[in-house]
Amino acid sequence: METEFDFEDRIMSGEYTPNEDTAEVSLRPQNLDEYIGQDKAKENLKIYIESAKRRQSALDHVLLYGPPGLGKTTLANVIANEMGVNIRVTSGPAIEKQGDLAAILTNLSEGEVLFIDEIHRLSRQIEEILYPAMEDYSLDIIIGKGPSARSIRLPLPHFTLIGATTRAGQMTTPLRDRFGVLLKLEIYKPEELGAIVRRSAKLLDIEITEEGTYEIATRSRGTPRIANRLLKRIRDFALVKGDGVITADIARMALDMLDIDKLGLDATDRRMLTAIIQYYGGGPVGLETLAATTGEEAVTIEDVYEPYLLQIGFLSRTPRGRCVTKLAYDHLGLPYSPTAAQPSFFDDKKTL
Ligand code: ADE
Repeated sequence: METEFDFEDRIMSGEYTPNEDTAEVSLRPQNLDEYIGQDKAKENLKIYIESAKRRQSALDHVLLYGPPGLGKTTLANVIANEMGVNIRVTSGPAIEKQGDLAAILTNLSEGEVLFIDEIHRLSRQIEEILYPAMEDYSLDIIIGKGPSARSIRLPLPHFTLIGATTRAGQMTTPLRDRFGVLLKLEIYKPEELGAIVRRSAKLLDIEITEEGTYEIATRSRGTPRIANRLLKRIRDFALVKGDGVITADIARMALDMLDIDKLGLDATDRRMLTAIIQYYGGGPVGLETLAATTGEEAVTIEDVYEPYLLQIGFLSRTPRGRCVTKLAYDHLGLPYSPTAAQPSFFDDKKTL
């Protein structure tokens, strides 16, 4: 699809570009105490990990879900570290054939973690292999074809599957039901992002003031991956345009040049909100229509743009489509004059 703005180039996308986190010092926390935020998930995990260790058994299977960039992969690594076991990393789209998954499963050792990113993208046939593997730690394989075909059951080591998805709703129920632990990762609060920025700056040997930290924390859409990326880009501005220290002024100048506004919205966010206002009277507008109007993929709108806009109350989702709220009109400096019906309380309840 022809887009005005390449998704890969979007500094505000929650996606990591290859090698982003490996080229320099790793910013990823190694254990739960270093992991900032997600207190509820961490609190629960601590108990399950401690219990599994005391019972000397593998941790139950864990499903991590939530918008991109909130640290699902990081948390999976932290869980493996805390359990003191190895982690094998793969992803839904990378497993093409049943044999691929069978090979991975039979190569696991007792207690190890298998991490499957984007688990909602596994095909049905591959899911079928996972069911007995998750439930009974066994692998059912069919030998031969036609009337002489027979099924044999191979035992697998007790392993922990950690699945990550941005869209738990797109997973099949049988797969979702086989996870003992379901953890939803939430968008981070500015204080938590501030702590992450301080930690990352220290690791990267970047000097930053409290006001500079605040600017980044409040303009990173509640996403550590974006905060860390902005920190590195603003460091470049600080070195070239200042004396190397990230002050509030340097941070503001850099963020303005990157076209990221006070609330962390970039040109694409604003274009999307403005399109709903200009072409659809503020909404409601359906996701597919919005995708066609803005030239963004519907899944990108749903996974990347919407979560933050919903979180800050700029968008609301109703059964009839998306609506822009008065808060967003005010932020964009546009007069509030929705021509279409605004969402009612009842609409919101129905989408829950
Ligand atoms: N870097 C990225 N995510 C983080 C987190 N949740 N805590 C600490 N550092 C991080």
